[in-house]
Amino acid sequence: QPVYLSDYQPPAYRVTHAELTFDLDPANTRVEARLTVERHPDAAADAPLYFHGEQLALESVAVDGETLADNAYRHDDRGLTIARVPAAFTLETRVRLAPEDNTALEGLYQSNGMYCTQCEAEGFRRITFYPDRPDVMAVFRVTVIGDAEREPVLLANGNPVERGELEGGRHFVTWEDPHPKPSYLFALVAGDLECVEDSFTTASGRDVTLQIWVEAENLGKTDHALASLKRAMRWDEETYGREYDLDRFMIVAVNDFNMGAMENKGLNIFNSAAVLTHPDTATDAAFQQVEGIVAHEYFHNWSGNRVTCRDWFQLSLKEGFTVFRDQSFTADTNSAALKRIQDVAFFRTAQFAEDAGPTAHPVRPDHYIEITNFYTLTVYEKGAEVVRMLKNLVGWEAFRRGSDLYFARFDGQAVTIEDFVGCMAEASDEDLSQFMRWYHQAGTPEIDAHGEYDYVNAEYRLTLRQRTPVTAGQQAPEPLHIPVRMGLIGTRSGHDLSLTLGGEACGKDTVLDLREAEQTFVFTDVAEAPTPSLLRHFSAPVKLHFPYSREDLAFLLTQDSDGFNRWEASQRLAMLALDDLIAAHRNGVEKVMDTRVIEAYRTLLNAPEEDRAVLAEMLRLPSEACIAEHQPLVDVDAIHAAREFVRQSLGFALRDEFMALYQASQSAEPYAPTPAQIGRRSLKNVALEYLMAIEDEAGIEHCRAQFDAGHNMTDVRQALTLLVHSSRDDLSAPALRAFGEKWAHDPLVMDQWFSIQVSRPQGDVLDRVKYLMEHPAFSLTNPNKVRALLGTFAQNRINFHRLDGAGYALLADTVIELDGLNPEMAAGLLTPLTRWRRFDDTRQALMQAELERINERSLSANVYELVDKALGER
Ligand code: ARG
Ligand code: ZN
Repeated sequence: QPVYLSDYQPPAYRVTHAELTFDLDPANTRVEARLTVERHPDAAADAPLYFHGEQLALESVAVDGETLADNAYRHDDRGLTIARVPAAFTLETRVRLAPEDNTALEGLYQSNGMYCTQCEAEGFRRITFYPDRPDVMAVFRVTVIGDAEREPVLLANGNPVERGELEGGRHFVTWEDPHPKPSYLFALVAGDLECVEDSFTTASGRDVTLQIWVEAENLGKTDHALASLKRAMRWDEETYGREYDLDRFMIVAVNDFNMGAMENKGLNIFNSAAVLTHPDTATDAAFQQVEGIVAHEYFHNWSGNRVTCRDWFQLSLKEGFTVFRDQSFTADTNSAALKRIQDVAFFRTAQFAEDAGPTAHPVRPDHYIEITNFYTLTVYEKGAEVVRMLKNLVGWEAFRRGSDLYFARFDGQAVTIEDFVGCMAEASDEDLSQFMRWYHQAGTPEIDAHGEYDYVNAEYRLTLRQRTPVTAGQQAPEPLHIPVRMGLIGTRSGHDLSLTLGGEACGKDTVLDLREAEQTFVFTDVAEAPTPSLLRHFSAPVKLHFPYSREDLAFLLTQDSDGFNRWEASQRLAMLALDDLIAAHRNGVEKVMDTRVIEAYRTLLNAPEEDRAVLAEMLRLPSEACIAEHQPLVDVDAIHAAREFVRQSLGFALRDEFMALYQASQSAEPYAPTPAQIGRRSLKNVALEYLMAIEDEAGIEHCRAQFDAGHNMTDVRQALTLLVHSSRDDLSAPALRAFGEKWAHDPLVMDQWFSIQVSRPQGDVLDRVKYLMEHPAFSLTNPNKVRALLGTFAQNRINFHRLDGAGYALLADTVIELDGLNPEMAAGLLTPLTRWRRFDDTRQALMQAELERINERSLSANVYELVDKALGER
């Protein structure tokens, strides 16, 4: 059942032109395909033709105009086989499908009555018979027929070339996309939509019409996405020399969507949560996310569409590169330090957990059962880290030359990761063969670092030892090429020291190339004892261990010239204190707060960073999930208790400072999602969080006032969260009710309402989840709702991991029910249960029991693959 990378074969038959006609009907859509097919020159003359096709009611097949008799082809539940076909011919098929019954949201489905598609990775085979693989690229001409009233808008990829009225109140539009593309980039949308239009002139003078299509009530929520799109288009021209290549670029917002968005050629389809914003309904975080996703999908037009993947094992070729590109765009457009901090904090929590669990896989997996399970943090985010390392290794100029070479050489082709790295090697003249191991070794590498200062010889010896854990199905890992960016800070002067390595001066900030299992770097002429600042900017996706003392960290917190590593020092310092408190909790010893941490925070509060957003991140404690990643065995109660204790200790000790900060961060400026405003709000809301942690009376009044004033969703949501997460029902209940009533009409705000309630740390959340699953605004067929309610609940560590196993049972029940509706969502929801190994024996047994209960069912390939891996770890 698994597919293996090593089995790759080019297709025996490919399609060069596809002409499709859709006659839309919720229960009975007719799809006619007229495909120009040719045999691959290397394929045998008697090679049978095999086209994918699933859940299609086949009505007729014709070769070169001749309808085939029933016994001239074979049709099973995976596809269509024709034993003998000419070397070049036209294949015509007619099939029927029922978009209204498609709850998997793959292929052609309906969302709020409108028709839309999701084809990546293998959804096109639910639309028509086709070689549904990315190395088959064709020119598409698509005619969409719909009801003139219900579906006044009929969209597909490319440019509209013809439209007209038909009998019975129906009409049609024909679209042509001149760029050959794989089937996964096909898209169609039909419905009662309105659009906001703008234009963009490319560097070479092409006028591009930009359209964002939404339901009428959302017309006021598109400004930010549109502005982001234009910034992204300009940035890609200036930074990568990439221009847009069609006369129009369309974005459509749909409510029911499995992921964030999809880069279909010229017709991106977005989860409404990833495109709609308004200051009253979306937080700063949502504004930033929309900007990033709009850019990401746009950037795919080159990194993904013009040059695509040979097969799905190469997924990171387009995703890793495109995530790296969107991260760079956001860093250039906003606070670069903040962007890196946010990405790294997320990465080390979520991707490290994935890499340490049963679904660990390399950036380029070598086998899979269900490709949909591989749209992962490893393929996307670790893939982006690998591209970032490449850029840093060869330098931006060579990287840009390599990128130009890649796009020029492979334009219109479906290629591999070797092709990409090969261009980088060629453009830079670097040997990247060892570096390639990053793509096929899974697991998070760890570096043990150790430093010694020799006063007599003024030398600093830094020893780095690397090891990569063995993960399921992988051979013994070999040493990686790891770039370690670092500096040495004089402990007396507080300044970055000039570095001399092997007799060569290398500035105050340098990159060590760690290639061996163990290497020692000797810095000479080190005039004073230094504190090393290591892995600056998280220069490689590794865990770095260095025996920093709390004094070292308090020093780095203020003295490191690198903003990212100042934040890093704050997190390490907090983590040391948390470790002690977790141990105290487990041993039943009284908890005592480390005053050095309090004093370090006081210093931060008194001599603030110029970048307020960065300061806010420094003041924010690592999340419970992040703390858990540092523990050999996750003790949910001890982690929660320790973190609460630190929050409250800091709150009490620095109450006046937080109050002053809160008050100083007020502003009457009208809302704008600018870095300066976002930083100010973030700092204000961190201060409020500490005041609420100690339930300070004046703080509570500020919190209520902030909620009532309702200036923007960022402030309202934070106030609501703090009220709801407080231990006081008199604060929680009225605020929740008021918010729920005010926003009952807005599904995206109701998602926030759901998740705020079920992320409460108080111990009554399970019943709340069950109750809310019956709420009229909830729906099991809407992925956003499932994520908001059940996905959030599964991240609520205290409540999900209750010792009676009821949290696990609820999740398992929901996975089982959802698997019959939407396998991709079901698999996503299941993930927390697969991480059972990280918990104590009692919880391990409970989680395994639920996995076994799921396993007894007849399952989708998606859920089957995950359960199988998770149980295989026993
Ligand atoms: N390529 C899309 C993106 O990264 C995501 C595709 C999602 N596919 C899926 N089967 N969920 O923007
Ligand atoms: Zn992508």
